[in-house]
Order: sequence, then C-alpha cells, then structure tokens
Amino acid sequence: PSPVDTNPSMEVKTSLLDNMIGVGDMVLLEPLNEDSFIVNLRNRFDHNEIYTYIGSVVISMNPYRSLPIYTPQKVEEYRNRNFYELSPHIYALADEAYRSLRDQDKDQCILITGESGAGKTEASKLVMSYVAAVCGKGQEVNKVKEQLLQSNPVLEAFGNAKTMRNDNSSRFGKYMDIEFDFKGDPLGGVISNYLLEKSRVCKQPRGERNFHIFYQLLSGASDDTLMKLKLDRDFSKYNYLSLDSANVNGLDDAASFRTVRNAMQIVGFMEAEVQSVLELVAAVLKLGNIEFKPESRVNGFDESRVKDKNDLKEMCELLGIEQSVLERAFSYRTVEAKMEKMSTTLNVAQVRRPTHCRHCIAIGLGGILYTGVFGNSHGMAQAKTRHKVMGVLDIYGFEIFEDNSFEQFIINYCNEKLQQIFIELTLREEQEEYIREDIEWTNIEYFNNAIICDLIENNQNGILAMLDEECLRPGTVTDDTFLDKLNTICAEHQHFESRLNKNSKFLTDHSLPHSCFRIQHYAGKVLYRVEGFVDKNNDLLYRDLSQAMYKATHSLMRQLFPEGNPAKVNLKRPPTAGFQFKASVGVLMKNLQTKNPNYIRCIKPNDKKVAHIFTDSLVCHQVRYLGLVENVRVRRAGYAFRQPYESCLERYKMLCKKTWPHWRGPARDGVEVLLTDCSVPTEEFAYGRSKIFIRNPRTLFTLEERRRACLEDLATLIQKIYRGWKSRTHFLLLKKSQVVVAAWYRRYAQQNKYQKIKSATLVMQSFVRGWKARNILRQLKYEKRCKEAVTTIAAYWHGTQVRREYRKFFRANAGKKIYDFTIQRIMQKYFLGLKTTTMSPMDNTWPAKPYGFLEGAHTQLRRIFHLWRCKKYRGQFTEEKKAVYEEKLEASEIFKDKKALYPSSVSQPFKGDYLEIQKNPKYQKLNSAMEEKVLLADLVNKINRANGKGSPRLFLLTKSNFVLADQKTGQVKASVPLPDLASVSVSTQSDGFFALKLKEGSASASKGDFLLSSEHLIEIITKLHRIGTTAADRDQINIDISDEFLVQFKQDKVCVKFIQGGPKNGNSAACKRKNNRLLEVSVPSP
Ligand SMILES: Nc1ncnc2c1ncn2[C@@H]1O[C@H](COP(=O)(O)OP(=O)(O)OP(=O)(O)O)[C@@H](O)[C@H]1O
Ligand SMILES: [Mg+2]
Repeated sequence: PSPVDTNPSMEVKTSLLDNMIGVGDMVLLEPLNEDSFIVNLRNRFDHNEIYTYIGSVVISMNPYRSLPIYTPQKVEEYRNRNFYELSPHIYALADEAYRSLRDQDKDQCILITGESGAGKTEASKLVMSYVAAVCGKGQEVNKVKEQLLQSNPVLEAFGNAKTMRNDNSSRFGKYMDIEFDFKGDPLGGVISNYLLEKSRVCKQPRGERNFHIFYQLLSGASDDTLMKLKLDRDFSKYNYLSLDSANVNGLDDAASFRTVRNAMQIVGFMEAEVQSVLELVAAVLKLGNIEFKPESRVNGFDESRVKDKNDLKEMCELLGIEQSVLERAFSYRTVEAKMEKMSTTLNVAQVRRPTHCRHCIAIGLGGILYTGVFGNSHGMAQAKTRHKVMGVLDIYGFEIFEDNSFEQFIINYCNEKLQQIFIELTLREEQEEYIREDIEWTNIEYFNNAIICDLIENNQNGILAMLDEECLRPGTVTDDTFLDKLNTICAEHQHFESRLNKNSKFLTDHSLPHSCFRIQHYAGKVLYRVEGFVDKNNDLLYRDLSQAMYKATHSLMRQLFPEGNPAKVNLKRPPTAGFQFKASVGVLMKNLQTKNPNYIRCIKPNDKKVAHIFTDSLVCHQVRYLGLVENVRVRRAGYAFRQPYESCLERYKMLCKKTWPHWRGPARDGVEVLLTDCSVPTEEFAYGRSKIFIRNPRTLFTLEERRRACLEDLATLIQKIYRGWKSRTHFLLLKKSQVVVAAWYRRYAQQNKYQKIKSATLVMQSFVRGWKARNILRQLKYEKRCKEAVTTIAAYWHGTQVRREYRKFFRANAGKKIYDFTIQRIMQKYFLGLKTTTMSPMDNTWPAKPYGFLEGAHTQLRRIFHLWRCKKYRGQFTEEKKAVYEEKLEASEIFKDKKALYPSSVSQPFKGDYLEIQKNPKYQKLNSAMEEKVLLADLVNKINRANGKGSPRLFLLTKSNFVLADQKTGQVKASVPLPDLASVSVSTQSDGFFALKLKEGSASASKGDFLLSSEHLIEIITKLHRIGTTAADRDQINIDISDEFLVQFKQDKVCVKFIQGGPKNGNSAACKRKNNRLLEVSVPSP
C-alpha cells in the first residue's frame, strides 16, 4: 500500500514526517543497523509512541498499560486517511486494509506475530474493533459485529491460560476470516486454530494455570449449576488445577465467567448447548481425579483398576457413558493386525498406561472441546457464499527457549513459512511497483529462507517427513532412533547442526548436547531436544477410548469423537500431528498468498509485564528473530522512499521559486525542476511513472529540513499578507461604512430640509388659497344672496299674486273660516239670546249658558250687564226721585234684617207730606206757623204712659225740629229742636212704636220722652236719621233697635217691652200698662 490515488491538493496536509519522534518509519533510519534500530524504538517507546512503521509494516511495542490512543475520536481521526498521513498507528493499518478490501475488492490478511505477551491478541482485537467501528451500521450488521467481537472472550476462556510470560496467553494459533459483503458490511466469520497446547489440560508448568474456563466455572457458576455438574467450588479438590497460581492478580474469574456466558449467548449458543459444554468441562475435571492402582492377575500379568469409582461414576453420568465400557477402555487395548483383533491387558511395563489414557482422553476432550466450541460459534456467524475476506492471524512468533521441543519446532516452522511469505510478498510487491513505475530493477540482496523451509517440510528428506516415517515404522521406535535418522539424512544441510553429525565441525561443540539437534532459522539458531518428538507426533487417542467415547449419550460426544464411530473403522493410521500441521500450514499459506498481507510485528519491551521498562537485550532478541532489520533492508533495497509526484510537489514546492506557489504543468516536471533546483544529486533519485523514488533517507531529511526552514519564512509571509489583508479589509469596511453612514446622514438631512420647505410652502399655499377662496366665496355668497333675494321677492310677489288670484280656490283656510264663522254664529246667537232679559235691575233672570267655554264670559257678562242696567236705570232718575231712593236706601241700611216691619215698607213710596199741608186749608195756620219747609207731615199716635192708649197727633218734621200738633186744631203741642234729640228706640218687630229720647238737660226734656206709633215708622225714622246725617253741625241720631227699652216720662223711667202676641188681638199692636215701670206691647205675630 502506498499513499497514492487521492486528490493531490487534499494530500500531505499532514504527514508522518510531521512532529516525528525519532523516525516513524524505520525505512528512513540512518544509519541503519540493529543499534540505531533499537535506539529509535526505545526513543519512541519512551515518548509513548508504541507504533513504528517499516514501510507498511507496523511494529507494536506492548505498553503494558492502557494508553488513550484507542478512543472513538482516534478512530474518526484515522478513518479514511492515507497510511502515511498521520503518526503510526495500528488503526492506520486497519483502515488501509479495510479500505482496500472495500474499495479495491482486494482480500486482506493481517498477520500478527510476536512472542508470548507481546500483544498479538490485543492487536487482533484492536483491528477487529476498528473495523467494526468504521464499517456499516444497521441491525443485522451490528448483530454480526457483536458476534465477531464477542467470540474473543469465549475463545480466550477455552484457549487462554496464565503462563509465566503472559497472564492471558493464547495457547493456540488463531486465524479468523471475517467476511464482508460488497458494501463492506460484515457478514460473518470463520475461525481456524492451530497448535492448541492440549497438554496443558493435564499438566501445567509451575506458576502457570490451566485454561481459564476451569477456574471461571468454579468461581463464577451459581451453586445450583455447580450442583448439577456435580462440582465443588474448591480448586484444591481437582488434580488438574494447579493450586499455586489459582488466583491471578487482575483477573476476576467470576466476572469473566459471566462475560463468557453472555458472550456465548451472543455468539449463538443455545442454553442447552452452553449446558452441555459446561458438562464437558466438568467431566474433564472429574476425569483428572480418577486414579488407578496396579493389580496382579492370576496369569501373572498386572492389571490396573480404578481406585475410587465415585469420580468415574460421576463423570460417566455427566457424559452418559456406561461405566463398565469406560473402565474396560482404560484397562485394555485392542491391537488390530492382519485382520485380527487381539485384546490385550496392559502389562506391567505399561503400568503408567491408564494415567496416560486418562490424559489422552482429557487432552482429547480438551482439544476437541475447544474446537467444538468454535465448530459451533463460527457456524453461527458464517456466511453462505464467499465474499470479500479479511483474515486475521494471531500466532506465536519464533520461540527460542532453553529447552525447545516438538511444539517450538512446529511453531518456528510456521514462522519460517510466514517469513518466507513475507519476503515473497514484499519483494514481489516491491518488484511490481518498480515495474509499474518503470524503474530499473536492481537486484536486491536478501536472505531467502526457502532453504530452511525445505529442510523441515521436504516430502522426501524433510525433518517432518522423517519423523512421520519413524512413527510409522514397525519395530522399536524411540526419539533417539529418530535423531539418528536425522543425523544421517540432514547431515549435509547447511542449516542443520548436530553433535552426531558426520560433519565433524560440531563434534567439539559443547553447546550442542547429544540428544539435540540445532537448526539455523532465519531469525537465529534454535536447539531442539528430541525427547517426546515421536509421541507428540503420534498424538493418538486409542481406538478403544474413542469408541468408548463415541458410545456416550451426551449430545456433543459423537461430534467430538467421530473417529470412534465403529462404522468408520479403518486400519490406516490417522495422520500424525506433524503431518496435519504441515498440511494446515500449507493451506494457510495458500490462503494468505491470495490475499494482500498486512503485518503487525509485536514486541514486548520487558519480561516483567510492567510499563515504562525497555529492556534492550530482550527487544534486541525479538528484533533479531522477527527479522526486522532484515525487513528494513529488503524494503530499502532499491529506494528507501517513494512518493507520488503530486504529493511530493505539494510538500516541497516551496523550496523552489519556479514551483512556488503553483506549478502549472505535469507534476512530474515540477518535481524534476524542483529537485534540480535544490541540486539533489541525480543518483539519489529516480523518476517512476507516478512516483519519485528517493534512494537515501538522508536526502529526504535534507529536503525536510529545508522545507521546515522555508515553512517558517512562509508562515511569516502568510502572516504578513494576512495581517495586511486583514487591516485593509478592516479599513475598507470602515470606509464603506463611513460612506454608507454619510450617505444616509445626507439623505436624512436633505429629507428634513425638503420636508420643512415643503410644509412651509404648503402653509403659504394654503393661506393664499384660503384667502382667494374666501374672496370667491364671499362674492359667490353675495351673488347667491342677491339671487335668493330676487327669487324670494319674486316668489313672494308671485305668491301674493297667485294667492290673490287663487285665494278663492283655496280650501286651506276654510276650516278656520268655518270655525270663526261658527264661533261668530254661536256668539251672535248667544248674544241675541241674552236680549230677552229685561232692563229692570230687579230682574234676576239670566239665561243658562249655552256652551261650557262661555262660562267665564257668561258670569262676567251677567255681572257687567247687571251693572250697566243698574247704571242705565239710575240714569233715568230725577233729583226728587233720587232723593227718595236715597232715603229708601238709608232705610234699608238702618232696618234691613233688624226690624220685622221693614220689608212691608219697601214697596211704599216715601210721600213725606201725607197731610197735604199746603193745600189743605185746615192746616193753613199750622203751615204758616212753620218757619221751614216741612219734610214730613203725618198722623201719629202719642202713647199715653198712664194707660198705654194712643191719642192722634200731627207729626211735622223740618230740617231743624219736629213738631207735634193737635190733629183737629192744628195746634202745636210740642216743638222739639232736633239737636235735643238724643236717640230713637224701636222694637225689632212689625209694630209701629218708636220712642224719641231727648237729651237730658235740654230744654225740651222737661216734658219727657215721646213714645209714638206710626204707620210710616220706617219713613219717619229714616228722615230723622237723614237729617242727622246731612246736617253737619249736629251729631247723628242713634237708632236703638231692641225689644226692651227705657223711656223717660217726666220723672219716671218706664220700660217698654215688646212681646209676641197671638193674632186674637187684631192686626195692630196693643200697648198696655202693666205697672209704673213697665209698658207691654204685644205685637201680633206675622
Ligand atoms: N496495545 C496495548 N495496550 C495496552 N496493553 C497491552 C497492549 N498490548 C498488550 N497489552 C498487555 O499485554 C498483555 C499481553 O498481551 P497479549 O495477550 O495480546 O499478548 P500475546 O502476544 O497475545 O501473547 P500470547 O502469545 O501469550 O498470547 C495484555 O494482557 C495487556 O495487558
Ligand atoms: Mg495471545
């Protein structure tokens, strides 16, 4: 993989070369040797840079502590970036691999190697988690991802154990194919495993443990589960569990058990399947506790018997095997030869056989259990059809111990093969690139380890072939015979060393024991002890045992021991372990060769499993046997560094004026110009088709150095220009703003001014217009008024005319007219009606009012009329008549309602001179005696006080006196001046009596008062009273009206009393003297 094919302008924004600690890519190491290599590693390790590249290979140092470089942010950072763009990281490799798988359809494999504890398994998990994080999302995809990720805890529980070198050491090699669909979404995975260290089930070196699952089950399972499995929580009860390191620091078995159970579920185990797997685990523990004892038999042979059958019984119950069958399988061995079956007991020599058998079963169970688990788990996730595949290989690196056995041999063989593939692929790739880039191919000197592979795997005389041969050979076969054979056959091989070699040069080599042989691997010499090679190669489970197991009713046993199926029995020996391994390595290699390899080389910095310690010797050892320096050399063989023209130009263009800042033209020409300008020696580089190849890292560093210096200048330049630009922009902005502000302000000011002028104009205009309008209005109004006046006059005139003309036709006033007329008529009638009334004031009649509305007028009219009539009536009166009436009136005033006589007097005219005194001759004398005109002359009765009888007398009245004269003679009897008259008394009744009382002391009084009666009493008294009123010089005469009064007769005072008398007395009143003092007048009642 190379940093090609992306948009060049986007590229080399960052580079591996930026902020580099030491060198990030060992290819650039200068000078290149083991020491500088290790110094660089150490330098980087001290700065927490645990990853370093060798080209596209990643070297990973185990930090032994968690570093903050696996966060989701980191994943995002490395996602879709070019390999050399960022500082070295395992994610860069994972990303590169995933992207070329997804985008270029190239199957990938990731080969992780390194010694135990170097971090291979962790690396493989990191790769998987990265891929899981960046690939597609969705319910199905997530489920598959979960299954893939969760397969790790299950694998580790069954395949990992605590060892001296690693607390979580994988005791197997693992190869996992993850399958993807065309979009790059994971579909499933297939896990293959190699070289499980099965022997660990039975026996663990000191300080190490059995596989985790045993401890996890006992610490983590519930009491209930343990009871079902017939297990005890106590580790010490089980022979197969080492006690001295049962508890490991930092490992929580109980918690891990829960994780594993959960993971099994996610991976796809059914509950029953989990249960049967746990039953197998329990059975293995039980099996470890079965012990045997020798027993002599009659025939002299020894036999072995199971000591305590309880464990056996429980194990058989767990697995569903008949106890006797298994017991027999422990004790007998069927040897089949020449179509015959012989059952032999195990003899004394084979006294250890049952234990061995037990181990065999345990190993078988353990191993098969392990593969069984994954037979199951991968089945769950595996996809039907083949798609893009990413393989992850987590396998031991070279192992060089003091005591190396068959396992190390096999492992180292595997590594040898991997190295070969690496060389092949690297070189092939290198060569392909040269060809692709049209660079002259310079032959690269490197060590090809094909010869070592050949030494081991050659079908005729390879070590594995010979081992197989020995195992199959009849007769006694021991490890020594095998070594002999090796010695003879491989003697000449330049990588094979042995003491018993014919090659005498090792005869004296004391570092090489007799029972050993040594192979010069590409990574160093390894000494192998042959002991156990043959047995381990055989790796057989006796058929009796496998058949006994096959008979078990436990659901998994038949799948686990298919070779025990009696129907499949064949006599051919099963293939040896070596053969099987060689075959599987072959398959693996073929598989890997079809894929694009990606390497992760893991290195552990110290033996103590602690952080921060870097043991040079240990690292040096690993660097050496991983062939890393070799690796760099191969990579650097031609040109150390290569880069596409575009990115090269982009990165270094500032070094040359012609390419800075832009090169217009093909990138290649630009690079050429650039390099010439920088005066790089021509032998230092070669021009490929799309890339520039730089031979020496030093050249690159020179360029880098110059670039760094140049960048500083450029930074200043950029700053300068930027600042200038910024200030100018700011200034321009200010200026622009100012113009805007000014413009707005001016506009505002002008607008204001305009508005003012406009409003002023409007005011003026309005005044002028108003004035004009008012003028016009006045004019118009005047005209209008004239017109209106004319019109009005005309109208009235016309109206008058017309009305005059048409009045007669109008009915409008008819109502009023009729009304007036009616009223007139009514009034007329009313007034005419009133005509009937007489003019007599006495007339009291008055017509009734004809209408209600006339009521007021009616009464008023009546009053007025009456007054008027009275006035009229009065107007007719003569003086005499007037005086008469005045007298009448006075009478009325005096007597009305006071004297009963009065009403009869009203109708009688006051004649005055009833005696006709002037004419009557008889009274001539008398008349002449009278000095004054007589106002009244009448005949009266003078009442005599003595008897009350009247005597007639003539009564004359003048203005100044009254005279009493004799009727017959006319002789004056008494003349009394009026001033001597004090008062007049009358009664209230209808009589004619009256008393004239004289003033006491007057001259007349000597004769006493006069009691008279007259028919004309009213007239006499009235005239008397009238004289009193008219005469100014005299007092008025008192008129006393009562029914009892006193009269002075001479000396006596006589009381006159009026009483009501009956009618028998006649019509006139009669006076009677009652006593001296009383005169009684009875008056007839009316
Ligand atoms: N990248 C890492 N970051 C932090 N710790 C690590 C890292 N890699 C490895 N370790 C530590 O080192 C220990 C050993 O790592 P790991 O189990 O991956 O080794 P290994 O190479 O698989 O060994 P073996 O060959 O025994 O399986 C881990 O348990 C972990 O504690
Ligand atoms: Mg591991």
